[in-house]
Amino acid sequence: MATPEEIIHTMYSTMASRGAPGYWKTELPRITWSFDSGLPDPTTFPLDDFVRISDAVLHRDPSGALQYGRGTAGDLLYGYAGLRQLVIDQSPRSVGEPLYLRGVMLTSGGIQAITLAIQAFLDPTDIIAVEAPTWNMVVARIRQLDLEAIAVPLDEDGMLLDVLEERLQDLRAQGKRLKLLYTQSTFHSPTGVSLSVPRRQRLLELAEEYGFLILEDNVYGDLRYEGEVLPTLLSMDDAGSVMRIGSFSKTIAPGLRLGWISGHPEAIAAVSAIRGDLGVSQWMARVVAEYIREGLLEPHIAEVNQLYRQKRDLAASVLEQRCGPWLRFDMPAGGFNHWVELSDKVDPAAVKQQALAHGVDCRPGERFFGDSEQGKMHMRIAFSMVSMEEIERGLGVLGDAIEASLS
Ligand SMILES: Cc1ncc(COP(=O)(O)O)c(C=O)c1O
Repeated sequence: MATPEEIIHTMYSTMASRGAPGYWKTELPRITWSFDSGLPDPTTFPLDDFVRISDAVLHRDPSGALQYGRGTAGDLLYGYAGLRQLVIDQSPRSVGEPLYLRGVMLTSGGIQAITLAIQAFLDPTDIIAVEAPTWNMVVARIRQLDLEAIAVPLDEDGMLLDVLEERLQDLRAQGKRLKLLYTQSTFHSPTGVSLSVPRRQRLLELAEEYGFLILEDNVYGDLRYEGEVLPTLLSMDDAGSVMRIGSFSKTIAPGLRLGWISGHPEAIAAVSAIRGDLGVSQWMARVVAEYIREGLLEPHIAEVNQLYRQKRDLAASVLEQRCGPWLRFDMPAGGFNHWVELSDKVDPAAVKQQALAHGVDCRPGERFFGDSEQGKMHMRIAFSMVSMEEIERGLGVLGDAIEASLS
């Protein structure tokens, strides 16, 4: 566990990495174009449906919606059974997942599920494997909990499993063992890549052979703009090694704070046992369940995917036109961002400073690595929240900032 001094040090270095040390004490930079966070576009929030359904839910079942969940039904810690059953039955992306009601627990977003699972299965100094890069909140969690991390690089087919296997063999030779592997198998953030099906199969074999659990973060899995739906690791798992994370944050709205963790009932029981709260909102869970029962979720996902596909394409073409000579990226088939690599002619710290000074915020690549020496030449550009018009203007300003910073 980090000491208060370490926490303060981390805060200072985070501020410094944003190019404006100490800025919170003086003046916040005015951000006009925020490409920093992977937030959904607020114009997609299904406001009218939620007002109507919320009203109906409250009138129909006020004590179910506004009371604690019933302990006897498992609803207190696991959340409203009606929504858990829908997670099992309704999502086309859950196809083949061997789930029971006791194998699904609702959480306050995917982040709570990740945090609980890591804490349930790992003690300080235990070993976790993650992709490198990986989601910056997971990097932060690993530091906070003082875990040892195996960082496995990726290519366009996801995690490099021969590198993982080498590390597993090294650990075995030292009498150590990997306990948990966290992976974003589909539309990995920040890179946007997905683990290929043969590698999914091989990863499951490695989990069995070396006896580790897999925490599959699939919060971006529904945001697909082209290509075939991939089976989740959980749906391919016969051994009970996989727990998978889902969320309604990216597809509906993060303010719901509703996600879930699913897997073998014993694994989910272990995760539920360390919950420090009294479950998620019974009200919001009922509203989302009704929204799904009315058949509104799937068309909504199709609609938001159309918008995000347009944003992805526009952001890609502006980046090519305005920043083309100084960066490269691969087109992601889904998810919320472009992961760009700056050319060695560019000074990334100067770009960051110039961009912020002109109102453009992007997430620096080093935030996604445990080792601060890595990722310096990368940036994550989240196109999801910025409007089409502003994507064009904002990335144009980024292009100017890069040009101005050329060394
Ligand atoms: C990779 C990844 N996993 C999980 C989450 C969790 O989101 P939430 O807690 O809102 O479900 C996020 C949110 O940004 C994310 O980027």
